[in-house]
Amino acid sequence: AMTHTTAQPERSSRAATARPTVTLTGVQPTGDLHLGNYIGAIRPLADLAGDLTRDVYVFVADLHALNSRPDPAVLRERSRRLVAALLACGLDRPNVHVYRQSRVPAVAGMAALLNNVTAKGLLNRAHAYKAAVAANVAAGRDPDHGVNMGLYSYPVLMAADILALDADEVPVGADQAQHLEIAVDLAQQFSRSYRPGVLREPRALIAQTTATLPGLDGRKMSKSYGNAISLMAEPDDMRKQIRRIVTDSTPPAQPKDPDTCTLVALLRAFADPGTVAAVEERYRTGGIGYGEVKARLADAIDAHVAPMRNRYQRLLTDPAELDARLARGEQNACRRADRTLARTVVAMGL
Ligand code: ADP
Ligand code: TRP
Repeated sequence: AMTHTTAQPERSSRAATARPTVTLTGVQPTGDLHLGNYIGAIRPLADLAGDLTRDVYVFVADLHALNSRPDPAVLRERSRRLVAALLACGLDRPNVHVYRQSRVPAVAGMAALLNNVTAKGLLNRAHAYKAAVAANVAAGRDPDHGVNMGLYSYPVLMAADILALDADEVPVGADQAQHLEIAVDLAQQFSRSYRPGVLREPRALIAQTTATLPGLDGRKMSKSYGNAISLMAEPDDMRKQIRRIVTDSTPPAQPKDPDTCTLVALLRAFADPGTVAAVEERYRTGGIGYGEVKARLADAIDAHVAPMRNRYQRLLTDPAELDARLARGEQNACRRADRTLARTVVAMGL
């Protein structure tokens, strides 16, 4: 199970009501999922969904992806693969609703309404925009060079995702904490400007950083570092990538520190506790070589991932099945978002 810090106190009334807790998160379709995404985001979400008192809404943030202007065919393909991957990774269950953000028009409608309670100064302070400005200034360019309104107003669209679906809790990585604060901020601003009880204030579930998985070079596994191992890689390719993980040159006989080894960190995420303990012991006493650890790691990852990869590939070759899952998720998401939008529109005098 994932450990979380709760950004706001638990609403005490929740336990007493029969209404399920609504958990929502979005994933950008920026490329194939890697092992880090799975361990840090997807598996914890599947764990949360294992609690049947939760209704989990998980969506492909395809509208958000537009701000980097991807090629349309590439974006469409990435979205499809992401939907298949999510469904294959333990999220294909009755209390999980998988949808594409763009297929829930009330989200865009909500973003348009929220623009009017969003101070421009708030968005000037958003991390992603500030980083773009800082890079431009450092390069001697116009501060807003290459910045479109999709990037600038990204936090408003993200607040719309959350508020339209009337979410109770939003599990995200630490890098999204500011976006969650903005969503809470806009809900509060709306309540003050119009009336309370229309938009629910979401609670952030910030994943603890202990789950950060290292990549091929030992740094945090990340698309942007080029050190990622693709979650759905073919078995041969997966083994080839695992053999490329950088280790030091300590000979097999010599004792090694398991806590500083990338291989052990990965093993801890995928192997059973007995295997991990045995390998750690042999690190301390000496007598295990990195080649052997890599082979065990590859076995552990393959055992864990093979069923998911099979399901993923079946879904990709069966568009009708994929579409049926999406149709259900999108219908449910639309029903929720339409209700919220209707309340919001009326509260604002439309
Ligand atoms: P990337 O760094 O590859 O671009 P993202 O920033 O898109 O990955 O991350 C998507 C989700 O996956 C986030 O919830 C993030 O916390 C999680 N995640 C990404 N990389 C890792 C990692 N190395 N270890 C644990 N979780 C990760
Ligand atoms: N911004 C998130 C990310 O880059 C993705 C996202 C979009 C999201 N809308 C969301 C996450 C709503 C949680 C809730 O990872």
